[in-house]
This record gives sequence, structure tokens and C-alpha cells, in this order.
Amino acid sequence: MAIEAGDGALMDSSRVTGVLISFEGLDGSGKSTQLELLAEELRGVGLDVVTTREPGGTRVGEAVRAVLLSPAHTEMAPRAEALLYAAARAQLVEEVVRPALARGAVVLTDRYLDSSIAYQGFGRGLPLADIDRLNALAIGGLTVDRTLVLDIEPGLGIARATSLATDRLEAEDIAFHRRVREGFLAIAEKEPRRVRLV
Ligand code: TYD
Repeated sequence: MAIEAGDGALMDSSRVTGVLISFEGLDGSGKSTQLELLAEELRGVGLDVVTTREPGGTRVGEAVRAVLLSPAHTEMAPRAEALLYAAARAQLVEEVVRPALARGAVVLTDRYLDSSIAYQGFGRGLPLADIDRLNALAIGGLTVDRTLVLDIEPGLGIARATSLATDRLEAEDIAFHRRVREGFLAIAEKEPRRVRLV
């Protein structure tokens, strides 16, 4: 997978010296595999590469992840869900992303803020302004330089995941995942410079 750096959009040198790239998409879109392939490629040319995932990537974040994804927590309110994702993100930014960028690393993250817009905003129906506000607190200005959205049709994969119900979000019905996909497409359309749809 090629990441064009020619237009300079990958680097915001006024803020930090590193580069933050997020991989986004529906469950089962293959983003984690693509992230690992890119990480290998970049390490191969001698770059300092840090890979991480959301929710998680830190001890605190992994604990929050367990709360978020437990199929037992069927009563979780959408706003509580949004706050927990933001809390895990805040910890990741402080503990992992900011220090890595400060030393000039390339940080590849499996999901970031766009997932909250797509899942909690478009999927759960929370006002997008609320998602923006609480995430402004969580990320403290640390926006991504480039995002790859791996677009797949929510289909059989989701239906199968629903019946097996391995995690709480995957267990949502196909209509939910269609709304989430619409969310990712809307983000890509709104921010064509940052976001590449694959
Ligand atoms: P992930 O580990 O990426 O699951 P998968 O490997 O199946 O894609 O993410 C866990 C779930 O959390 C996934 O269903 C998407 C959801 N999620 C949100 O709803 N909001 C968020 O802000 C994030 C980061 C993830």
C-alpha cells in the first residue's frame, strides 16, 4: 500500500516531528493486516515505527477496552460508551502517541478519532458536535496526519459475527454497521486531503 508523501500533508512540523497515520474501517475490513504490512515496510527502510490500537494500546486502555467490548454490558448507554472510548484515547495519546511523535517516530494506529465519529456518532446517533467536544479533551490537539479507510460492504462477515457475538460492538445488527460505514464515507468525503478511501 502506497502512502504518498509528496504533497507534504503527512508532516505537520509546527506541532511534532513524527507522523501519525490511522487505519479505519468496519470490523473485518482487514485494516490490522494492512497496518502490519506497512509497519514492516517502513521498518525495512530504517524508520522508527510504533504500532498501536484503539481502544487499548496501554494498560489502562486495555482495561477500558475489556469494559467496552464485554458482551455482558448490554445496558451501556451511548454517552458512557463514547466517554470510555475517549478515555482510552486520552491515555494512549499521553502515554504512547505524543512521546513517540516527539522523538520523530512514525505512529500507525489501528483506529483513532474517526471510529468514534462513525460508531458513536453515525452508528449510535450521538450528536457529532458532542463527539468532537469530548474528543477535543481526549486528544489535546493531536490530530492524525493521514488516514486510510478500508471500505467494505457490511455483509455476511457481520451477520456471522453477530451470531457468534465475540464482542459487544460486533454483535450489533447489520443496520448499525451500515450506518457506521456511511459515517466513514462521510468523513472521507469531508476531508479528502487527510483521508484516503481504499
Ligand atoms: P477493533 O479492535 O478494531 O475491532 P476489530 O478488530 O474487530 O475491528 O475495535 C473494537 C471495536 O470498538 C470495534 O467494533 C469498533 C469499536 N470502536 C468504537 O465503537 N469507537 C471507537 O472510538 C473505537 C476506537 C472503536
